[in-house]
Amino acid sequence: MKTEQKILITATVPVLKENGVLLTKYFYNRMFTHHPELRNMFNMGNQQSGKQQTALAMAVLAYAEHIADPTVLIPVVDRIGQKHISLDIRPEHYIIVGRHLIASIQEVLGDAASPEIVDAWTAAYNQLAALMSGHEANLYEQQTNRTNGWTGWRPFKVGKKMLESAEITSFYLYPADGGKVTPHQPGQFISVRLFLPQLNLKQARQYSVSSAPGNEYYRISVKKEKGTNLDTDGMISNRLHDFINENDIVDLTAPAGNFTLAPDIDAPVTLISGGVGITPLLSMLNSLVESDYSHPITWLHGCRDESVHAFRNQLNDIVKTKTNVQQHVFYNQATDENKDAGVLEGFLDINKVPSLNLRPDAHYFICGPSVFIQKQYHDLVDAGVNKQHIYFEEFGPQLLSLN
Ligand SMILES: Cc1cc2nc3c(=O)[nH]c(=O)nc-3n(C[C@H](O)[C@H](O)[C@H](O)COP(=O)(O)OP(=O)(O)OC[C@H]3O[C@@H](n4cnc5c(N)ncnc54)[C@H](O)[C@@H]3O)c2cc1C
Ligand code: HEM
Repeated sequence: MKTEQKILITATVPVLKENGVLLTKYFYNRMFTHHPELRNMFNMGNQQSGKQQTALAMAVLAYAEHIADPTVLIPVVDRIGQKHISLDIRPEHYIIVGRHLIASIQEVLGDAASPEIVDAWTAAYNQLAALMSGHEANLYEQQTNRTNGWTGWRPFKVGKKMLESAEITSFYLYPADGGKVTPHQPGQFISVRLFLPQLNLKQARQYSVSSAPGNEYYRISVKKEKGTNLDTDGMISNRLHDFINENDIVDLTAPAGNFTLAPDIDAPVTLISGGVGITPLLSMLNSLVESDYSHPITWLHGCRDESVHAFRNQLNDIVKTKTNVQQHVFYNQATDENKDAGVLEGFLDINKVPSLNLRPDAHYFICGPSVFIQKQYHDLVDAGVNKQHIYFEEFGPQLLSLN
């Protein structure tokens, strides 16, 4: 890109800040009108709530702000790339997005979009697209090179469906082609794609693998997302719970994501989950337990009450047999019987755990709703934990930036 084009891009940042979400909404409408098939690829739930627009707008803005040195964006590019590869997004899609994004800038800005501004944004988009699709090509290559690796959508059969709590059900997914699964890194997710008759579209969602690596299947554990009325029930989670049964086929992409336990981790580990955020952490815990990990492991979990406390017996068994694993559970509503069993009442609060040892060398993994992550993160930092040792995963477009 030419220097004067970079200056023009930097000058557009305030306009983008004002109109970023409006522009991306306009862009999505335009793109879906010309390419209705892409509705199968995007999460139509996020489109309605505006979350995806915010995520894309923020990414474009972050890029514009760092146009002088886009390499600082590598962690963001990796995070988005992990989501993109789990949805089988390929270089040809970038061409379509680019065409409609540039046309949208022209149409939204009207006369304010001089040919120079349009040229500068075209050059900027092409640069960003090359950076992103180049990184994603590397990620696809890594997936292919793994043992039994693959990329793209692959049919899996539901081998077992099992209730874990009043609202969480596990699905054991085996390759329908008779092949093997590629081992995931504990903490990674897969995308599941189903046909939704109410939309007449295929839709994909991400689910963390809740089992440890080394099995012949991936287990996912899905919370049935209830809305305030039937129209607002979560589409894929309810379809999975109510209509997908043993022997049914669903499409999956290979494990992706960088919220993972490093294979060579050699330090105490603290796992903090809220509600269904338990899933990636359970995979981490199971894999540590299976490898007879010698460092202390602390398991902190919070949920509404006993009826929605998934994997309770499994966790209790681990704590009974492994002396290095400690467990602290919070229920919003705890009965006397729960309290006698050691459950603490209220929202999970590390400051209310008697004699909790927040080791400075420990690694902390948090997963749960956004407010939960923020609270745990700030409490840990206030207690003196090094920010570099705190990792978290949001179950939706990543909007939090805490580090
Ligand atoms: C990396 C990652 C890992 C994940 N791992 C897991 C996991 O292990 N287990 C798990 O259960 N989930 C997990 N999720 C979340 C999962 O991907 C889905 O987002 C979740 O299942 C909801 O999808 P849905 O199709 O059922 O809901 P959607 O149809 O996408 O709706 C999303 C939410 O919006 C609500 N809603 C819909 N319409 C309206 C409206 N008009 N007004 C207000 N609210 C509305 C729904 O009730 C629902 O709660 C993960 C997400 C990510 C990104
Ligand atoms: C420069 C170009 C692009 C940018 C800046 C961008 C940015 C983003 C961001 C920030 C997210 C959210 C990531 C998260 O969940 O944390 C995302 C997700 C996504 N992107 Fe892109 N993206 C680009 C190109 C594309 C292309 C070419 C496609 C395919 C046509 C695409 C399809 C998607 C889909 C389907 C999701 C997930 C949507 C959802 O869950 O609602 N993106 N992208």
